[in-house]
Amino acid sequence: MTRLVTISRRHFCTGLAGCLAVAACGSSDEPTIDAPARSGGVCPTTGALDVGPPSTFTLNTPVYFASGFVFVVRDANGLYALTARCPHQGFTTRVQGNDFICPRHGSLFSFDGAVLTGPATAPLVHYAMCTLASGNLGVLTSQIVPDTDRLNA
Ligand code: FES
Repeated sequence: MTRLVTISRRHFCTGLAGCLAVAACGSSDEPTIDAPARSGGVCPTTGALDVGPPSTFTLNTPVYFASGFVFVVRDANGLYALTARCPHQGFTTRVQGNDFICPRHGSLFSFDGAVLTGPATAPLVHYAMCTLASGNLGVLTSQIVPDTDRLNA
């Protein structure tokens, strides 16, 4: 379900040192290679979950949005959104102290989504964030981003 951004083969090869497929670069048919989505920019006109103004979010205090099963968190590097759905069997995690806990089987996750205690073995996935026309922030649950992705707002 990862949302990918499409770049041309020419752009990929330009940034790829030692690209051995030089002969294929610059061909007129321009096949594409996918790159991960990132937070930032203006939200599309539909599909973004409105999570309110940036001032809603204080440092290391996750805010839960039940309509999207999403937490939004501010850390020292910016804002990020991640799923509240436990990757083990899909139950909804909640805040417990400085972690997220899944009440079903007890998996613990750090606020950045990393697994601290199983049985879950996969982290909580992060979603792209964007800015709505109103100035509020949006979460795009259809676009998975790296866990290091942050929105500066
Ligand atoms: S469903 Fe979350 S730990 Fe099992």
